[in-house]
Amino acid sequence: MQIYFVLSLDCNLHCSHCIRNFSDKPSEIVDLHNVVSVLESIEKVGSKAQIILTGGEPTLHKDFFEIAGYAQKHFRNVVVCSNGIYTNEALNKLSNLKNTVVQISIDGNKESHDKRRGKGTFDKAINALQTLISNGISVRVSTTVNTENIASMFDLSETLSKLKPTKWQITPEQCFSETEAKKQLDTDVWNNFVDEILAKAKLRIKIKKLYDFALFEKMEKKFGKEYIKNNAITNCGCCSEKMYIYPDLSVRACTCMDSFILGNLKEKTYSEILVTMKEKKDLLKVKENSPCAKCDWLYLCNGGCAGYSKYYFGEIGYGDKRCPKVKAFYGL
Ligand SMILES: C[S@@+](CC[C@H](N)C(=O)[O-])C[C@H]1O[C@@H](n2cnc3c(N)ncnc32)[C@H](O)[C@@H]1O
Ligand code: SF4
Ligand code: SF4
Ligand code: SF4
Repeated sequence: MQIYFVLSLDCNLHCSHCIRNFSDKPSEIVDLHNVVSVLESIEKVGSKAQIILTGGEPTLHKDFFEIAGYAQKHFRNVVVCSNGIYTNEALNKLSNLKNTVVQISIDGNKESHDKRRGKGTFDKAINALQTLISNGISVRVSTTVNTENIASMFDLSETLSKLKPTKWQITPEQCFSETEAKKQLDTDVWNNFVDEILAKAKLRIKIKKLYDFALFEKMEKKFGKEYIKNNAITNCGCCSEKMYIYPDLSVRACTCMDSFILGNLKEKTYSEILVTMKEKKDLLKVKENSPCAKCDWLYLCNGGCAGYSKYYFGEIGYGDKRCPKVKAFYGL
């Protein structure tokens, strides 16, 4: 289970693409005591969970280092998702955070990154990356791609191959707002880019194609339908493999839709939340009149990212407009 603990929705940057703009922003601030009691209840169920401390900018939380220290002592897999903008004091403290992966967002070369994240932010994030790596911290880079920054990825790849983060995770931007939709990458463009960057980059990359039907076929041949049905993570793991805990301790299966609120950890136990999560899976059911209903890959895809259906078609269950089958069906 991936548990995204959104420690605070406050941020020192204002990125236009920010996914957190698609949920309400509770003003409540979670304190160390609350976080510890939530982590305790998760640990009781199993310490195998991956704890992802995120935000907003999680390092701005007043108790961030105590929270990270506690998480790191009690869970084997702790990741801090951060934008890399720190005071000297915060960078020093982060440099001493052992047994924790720090993930820093870098969204292109200097020009592209600064355009999205603000002037001077590229140099600051790269400096943080270098400092953390030289202090023995395991650092990975996360990059979100759209039509505006895709061309700069090859430049970034050169820079990163010299800095040697443990991994470079590259994902396509989820473009839900009207302005961001104009920057949506065509699925073929993204899929060709995946081949190209994998061939050229000289570092470990985590990236995958969208709606890769050739891969689906290979998987079906290799593992068989029954095995995949029982083991595949459908959609994006929403309602099965991940959850978001917000600063008011509300828990969400999807960070972009309030319909996926699973309850509040002030009132429910973590085990009860897990039960509600399974029940909410029904919300992801595809509509009878959607292209997904008759799709051969429904059993391993289940309609893709529900956010795309909700924000493009007005409701969940009509399919992900990035899928070629969905595009052909609606004539998009
Ligand atoms: C929401 S941020 C929170 C942590 C931190 N503030 C940061 O920027 O890394 C976590 C990651 O989500 C990515 N992200 C934000 N909006 C996104 C979107 N619309 N689609 C895909 N990824 C997105 C960010 O670029 C970042 O790598
Ligand atoms: S730094 Fe992260 S949380 Fe802040 S606006 Fe940018 S993507 Fe969103
Ligand atoms: S359904 Fe889409 S928007 Fe929601 S969490 Fe999954 S990928 Fe994100
Ligand atoms: S048609 Fe629907 S179920 Fe089939 S691959 Fe596309 S999004 Fe997934």
